[in-house]
Parts: sequence; structure tokens; C-alpha cells
Amino acid sequence: MIGRLRREFYSGVDHAVRRLVQGLHVDRDVATGHVAAGILGRVAADGPLEDAAFLIKAATEAVGQLSARCIRVRWDEAYAATGQPRFDTFVHCVETGLPALPSDVAEDTLRVANGIIGSPDVDFTGIPAGRSFAMASSFGLKARLLYGAAAVLGPRRCLEIGTAWGMSGLVLLHALKRGGRAGTLDTIEMDAQRHAAAARMLGERFGDRVTCHLGLTENLLPGVAERMGGIDFAFHDGGHGRKHYVGDFAIIAALMPAGGVVVFDDIRWQSRRSVEPSDCYEGWLEVARHPRVRCAVEIARRIGVVALG
Ligand SMILES: C[S@@+](CC[C@H](N)C(=O)[O-])C[C@H]1O[C@@H](n2cnc3c(N)ncnc32)[C@H](O)[C@@H]1O
Repeated sequence: MIGRLRREFYSGVDHAVRRLVQGLHVDRDVATGHVAAGILGRVAADGPLEDAAFLIKAATEAVGQLSARCIRVRWDEAYAATGQPRFDTFVHCVETGLPALPSDVAEDTLRVANGIIGSPDVDFTGIPAGRSFAMASSFGLKARLLYGAAAVLGPRRCLEIGTAWGMSGLVLLHALKRGGRAGTLDTIEMDAQRHAAAARMLGERFGDRVTCHLGLTENLLPGVAERMGGIDFAFHDGGHGRKHYVGDFAIIAALMPAGGVVVFDDIRWQSRRSVEPSDCYEGWLEVARHPRVRCAVEIARRIGVVALG
């Protein structure tokens, strides 16, 4: 297991950064900057960078050293230390250094981002689609965590709630494909404009490995989950609130074998439009108390991960 983790970690771009650090005796941040600039240069060769500041940050976060603090909300020591792969190895990876995105994956995410980011179309949130894309999509910690989870845990049947423009789906599918695994992704989005963009972008790259569903999770999840026949890994990034967390998790848990993992984004989400306190975190704690949950971890106080027995 450790050998496989090490291979994943040293594969791709982190290896390039290490070579630069060792060979040229340069500072690690400088080396990261060189690699990020190389990736962005290839994207820029296709056309102008729509928002250079955003893309530079995204490129650096994709390939630089990145780790995050983990709080163990619930921890079954024996469970975490057994199984293949071990859940404690995954958490250790998050705390000590998440695998960098390989340079071709980082380049692909930035190319897709550059295509959307300058879009002046107003989306259903009432702001330009390019801006809402940049705010809602998976970059930095979220992207690295999803890539690392799929690379390390190697799930076969993945579910996502909240496709948006497909950025989280993109990194998950890259990790599955790169590992040579037969993994698939079913992903649900309620907005037709975002769904259409994601379905086109992901379909072109991954063919029938991906199925993009249009509609509300409340209506679609039971049927989608049943058709999947089981769920090994799920990323919950749709409705943020107790009702969504607890209700969706109950459906997922019923179809998840022991060893399955569910990731919740924005566990402390609070609407900027409402002064009413959100019940999102309450929902996360309720999920963590579910009888099937053996380990529940908060990553950077933002992302919740549960592992099921
Ligand atoms: C934060 S964005 C997802 C970002 C995406 N997972 C990524 O990381 O690139 C949340 C998405 O969930 C969708 N959504 C919210 N509630 C939903 C629901 N009940 N059913 C389906 N989609 C929902 C929103 O339209 C939005 O596009």
C-alpha cells in the first residue's frame, strides 16, 4: 500500500518539482512556480489567458506542496488501520502532502477553466457564468483531495451530487483513467446550462465512463443510485443543508459496501443572502453519527469525509 501511495505521489508533476529542486538547487516554491508557468504557457499557446491571476493561483495550487489539518470527529482505530487500502493511510496523505495533479491533468483543468472563465453569459445565480464558475468549481484543496482520494482509494462506482461545470468530475475521472481502473462516474446537476456544458466537456474526454444526469437530486438520486447497483465513493457538493446531507446520505449508505467513502464539501456553509444560521454543520454531525460510519474527519474545517463499515 505504502509503495503504491509513494508511486502515486512521485508520479507526474511532483517528480518534476523534485528534480528541479535537487538538480538546480532551487527553492521548492520557485520550482513550483517554474512548473506552473510551464503548464500555463502551454494553455496560453492556444489563446489568451482570460484571468491570468486566477489561473496562476490555480496552477500553483495544482502542483505545489499542499497538506491540510484533519480533525478526527469519529475514529475507529481498528477499522482505520485495516482494509485495503487503509483509511488512516489516506488521512495521513492529506496531513503530510496530497499528491500533486500530474502536469497533463493540471493543464487540462486550466484549459477547461480558461474556456469558461471569460464567459459573459449570466447564469441562474444572476452573475456572469465565468465568475460563478471560478467561485463554485473545484480547484486547490478540493481538486487535490478528490484526485488523491480516487487515486489512492481506487473506487469503481463513483457518484457526484452537484456537477456544476464538471471540474470536480474532471479530476475524479482523470484519476480513475490514469490508474488504469474501470471506474465510472454518475453525476447530478439541477441547472440545464451547467449540465449541458459539463456533459459535453466530460463526454468528449471520458465517453461512457461518465453519465451526467439533469434534475434535482431529491427526484433523481434513488433511481440513479439503484441503477448504479452500488456506490464505492461519493462526493456531495449539491444542496448544502441538513435535509440534503442526511437524506442523500441515507440513500447512499444503503448502497455502499464496507470501505466506501463519502466526501461532503462546505460542511460549514452559510448563505450570504440569509441571516438565518444554516443547519449544514448540524447535518454533517448527524451524518458522522450514522451507525454505518466508522471514521469521520473534517479537513481544513471545510470538507467532511466519512468511511463506512
Ligand atoms: C458548488 S457547485 C458544485 C461544484 C462542482 N462539484 C465542482 O467542484 O466543480 C454546486 C452545484 O450543485 C447544484 N445543486 C444544488 N442543489 C442541487 C440539487 N438539490 N440537485 C441537483 N443539483 C443541485 C447547483 O446548481 C450547483 O451547480
